[in-house]
Amino acid sequence: MHDFQYKNDTLYCEDIAVAKVAEAVGTPFYLYSAATLTRHFTAFDQAFADIPHITCFAAKSCANIAILRLFASLGSGTDIVSGGELFRARTAGVDPGKIVYSGVGKTAAEIRTALESGILMLNVESEQELAVIQEVAAGLGLKAPVSFRVNPDVDPKTHAYISTGLAKNKFGIPIGEALRVYLAASKMANIEIKGVSCHIGSQLTLVSPFVESLAKVKGFIAQLAEQGIAITHLDLGGGLGIRYNAEEPPLPSEYAQAIKQELGGLNCTLILEPGRVLVGNAGALVTKVLYTKEGLKKFIIVDAGMNDLARPSLYDAFHHIQAVERPGREQAVADVVGPICETGDFLARERLMPNVEANELLAVMSAGAYGFSMSSNYNSRPRVAEVLVHGGAFHVIRARETYETLIQGESIPEFLKQQGA
Ligand code: LLP
Repeated sequence: MHDFQYKNDTLYCEDIAVAKVAEAVGTPFYLYSAATLTRHFTAFDQAFADIPHITCFAAKSCANIAILRLFASLGSGTDIVSGGELFRARTAGVDPGKIVYSGVGKTAAEIRTALESGILMLNVESEQELAVIQEVAAGLGLKAPVSFRVNPDVDPKTHAYISTGLAKNKFGIPIGEALRVYLAASKMANIEIKGVSCHIGSQLTLVSPFVESLAKVKGFIAQLAEQGIAITHLDLGGGLGIRYNAEEPPLPSEYAQAIKQELGGLNCTLILEPGRVLVGNAGALVTKVLYTKEGLKKFIIVDAGMNDLARPSLYDAFHHIQAVERPGREQAVADVVGPICETGDFLARERLMPNVEANELLAVMSAGAYGFSMSSNYNSRPRVAEVLVHGGAFHVIRARETYETLIQGESIPEFLKQQGA
């Protein structure tokens, strides 16, 4: 359920007409609904209300500080994967005690800043990373709280690019080798073992892979206990899928039920790192039709491209695209394409689309997750604005970039200046 609905054939986000926002901020732009974000977070978090847990929103899915703040105000922590995301979370006011740091390639500088900030734990992904954490923590004279990301070798049955829990993926420590690593860590002076973590992939539409990996991790936790290593936190990552088209992912309540059942009496705080399920359907990318063109095929050329929303080009992902006004008119099959100079620049292919004309607005739905956060400046296109609707008001939470922002930090070296243009 989301708050993008038609009233008299005009698309609204909560109580604001999408066209009104377009008039004020120009196109393209990302539009998010605070009511949807709030409802999604609450539904997810409440599903675990009866057990000790922290919901740590995965910042990578939608990293704007206003969104991080909105979730933090509802009690959320943040799952981060870089120093930049740590900076965002801290700026947004997220409690460092609710920040977990994942990722295979943390630098020593990022590890230092995270430790200085007092985050809940670092999810360690290799023995070499552990050695660096030990060294940095020793330098700071503190004990680094860590959890190890184990790779359970479970097939999440999702797109290959976003599957992470198979032995052949680059993530985590193979579960069969993890005991040795925990034992080594338990002897390190500046390491405090807090937990076990695991994240098997994204956009999962079945509960069974989650349960299968939890069963394996539980077995591993029992092995740890036999060796005298007790953990206080179990991080199950994110990954719950959403409906883009015809998928039927489990509801957060069904996901939580299955997890809690498999968890049994395990006595530790559960960490959850949902991203997409909280923000995916809470956001849309609004774009304007520039031209239409009909030859062998029909093309609807819009002002948003693969640099603004990479998912269709990158994963062949499906996003519903609807006309902001009069959605029910006659339709024809068309490709919806952007202005980027690549054939791979499309938002939809061979799609039944309303017969829209130049200057009309389209809403690319379910674009809240991995939409703006994966956008780029390719083709020297300023990144678009982000707007948050709250009831009958809207707020620009990120201004559209300008041409000046595009070249910020660039310079022409002296020897070239002397050569003239
Ligand atoms: N935790 C970890 C360690 C992760 O790597 C991820 C996502 C999450 C949590 C959040 O997963 P979610 O609940 O959003 O599925 N760009 C791709 C998705 C990449 C996901 C990467 N990791 C896409 O647009 O589909």
